[in-house]
Amino acid sequence: MKIPKHVGIIMDGNGRWAKQRGLKRTMGHEKGAKVAEDVIQWASDMGIRYLTLYSFSTENWKRPKEEVSFLFSLMVRYLESRLNKIIKENVRVRFTGRIEELPQEVFEVCKRIEEKSRNNSKIDVILAVNYGGRREIVDAVNNLLKEKKNNITIEDISNNLYLPDVPDPELVIRTSGEVRISNFLLWQIAYSELYFTNTLWPDFTKEDLIRALEDYSTRDRRFGSISSDEGSGKSAHK
Ligand code: IPE
Ligand code: IPE
Ligand code: MG
Repeated sequence: MKIPKHVGIIMDGNGRWAKQRGLKRTMGHEKGAKVAEDVIQWASDMGIRYLTLYSFSTENWKRPKEEVSFLFSLMVRYLESRLNKIIKENVRVRFTGRIEELPQEVFEVCKRIEEKSRNNSKIDVILAVNYGGRREIVDAVNNLLKEKKNNITIEDISNNLYLPDVPDPELVIRTSGEVRISNFLLWQIAYSELYFTNTLWPDFTKEDLIRALEDYSTRDRRFGSISSDEGSGKSAHK
């Protein structure tokens, strides 16, 4: 099985999972957070180096106030209570997205965890919070405008994304049966392999993760070229 360096996950279906059980949506988020914690452990054990978890999008502010504040308090509760474990397991927690727009105390917890785990090196767990792919690209362009650039290259945009040192994800997984990207890592997924499963996020297991990785392992990643076992000529370009 090929292990990607970077896996992104759109963790979707918490609300439907709860609804199926006659529970409040928040109970779905509660179970979803537990699953995220497990997935971090599995990914780390398998040797995945970067794991990006889509936790709150720039569009999720459209949800009821109570649900939004529950999501932030859940995140704070998890980050604070798992800090020792994060350090012990050599996990570096990072954020992508406009976290400075979160409620002050949430922002401070994020910064603190990021700082305390910054020297850890087994796996980078990147929480996409108040993240939007379009917003990220616009922010990059605005940075470049401030530098008075008048001709922007692909490298310029890549170097001005929120986490320029993080390689593009080879694989993006979305749960819950929705077949869309919902503004996740738009620039970075240009050539990512996409994997969709009907499993709702709170039901996601280690077997689901392995199935996604097995499927990824069978993909022929051509990047616009032809298979490496076909043709031996020099490429036309460069
Ligand atoms: C994913 O589950 C969690 C977040 C988007 C924060 P949802 O809350 O979107 O669950 P569904 O899609 O309503 O089932
Ligand atoms: C995407 O899920 C965002 C996260 C998983 C955080 P949504 O549930 O918000 O996406 P849509 O609304 O179904 O596209
Ligand atoms: Mg959803």
